[in-house]
Amino acid sequence: MKKQLKGAVLLAPLPVVMVSVGTNERSNIITVAWTGTVCSYPPRVYISVRKERYSYDILRGTGEFVINFTTDKLLAACDYCGIRSGRDIDKFDEMRFTRQPASYVSAPMIAESPINMECKVFDVINLGSHDMFLADVLAVHVDETLLNGDGAIDYSKANLVNYQHGEYYATGKHLGRFGFAAQRKYIAKYGKGKDAFAPAAPLVKRKNNGGNYKTKR
Ligand SMILES: Cc1cc2nc3c(=O)[nH]c(=O)nc-3n(C[C@H](O)[C@H](O)[C@H](O)COP(=O)(O)O)c2cc1C
Repeated sequence: MKKQLKGAVLLAPLPVVMVSVGTNERSNIITVAWTGTVCSYPPRVYISVRKERYSYDILRGTGEFVINFTTDKLLAACDYCGIRSGRDIDKFDEMRFTRQPASYVSAPMIAESPINMECKVFDVINLGSHDMFLADVLAVHVDETLLNGDGAIDYSKANLVNYQHGEYYATGKHLGRFGFAAQRKYIAKYGKGKDAFAPAAPLVKRKNNGGNYKTKR
């Protein structure tokens, strides 16, 4: 039996990221969970931000931001940046984060975060409680220790955090690779459909695409 609930934004898991805004001189960090990918080519993402956030006017003014990924080690800082406002404190200083200049946008990157995405806003949509800032991803900076031999990001090494309705969870248990369930060898061993569950890692390893993310998704 299932219980029907009223409509609510219960989608999970979600990324939880630290978004840096402003300039080196006047920078701020806002924690955001309402974020995601909206287009592969051109690479486009969104963040949804409430008008009352201190970061909102800065975002409106510059039209630029950096998405800084959150690892388990950075979670406390990420949570703190989502509770306190840049109106009252300098979050870069208080978190002892290092401002690292970005290549294309005015907002500084958080040096301690291993993956940073430079984003330029191309549209803002008022949706209700939140405005959605749609942005082009101009560049991604990745800590070299997370890159495998082919130049692709090995997310299993990143210890990224996800967010599920008020709770933070670790990621990291690798369950399979894109397309594994359609591979002949997999189907031969585990079958197809809802009962084709492989308790361990994927059966067949495919060669990855060497950091060329032009796979169709
Ligand atoms: C886990 C988490 C996720 C959050 N996600 C969002 C979000 O998606 N959009 C938003 O406007 N505020 C979000 N917030 C709240 C802001 O991060 C928070 O109000 C912050 O203090 C705003 O900072 P500012 O006033 O310096 O801009 C989130 C907070 C937490 C802790």
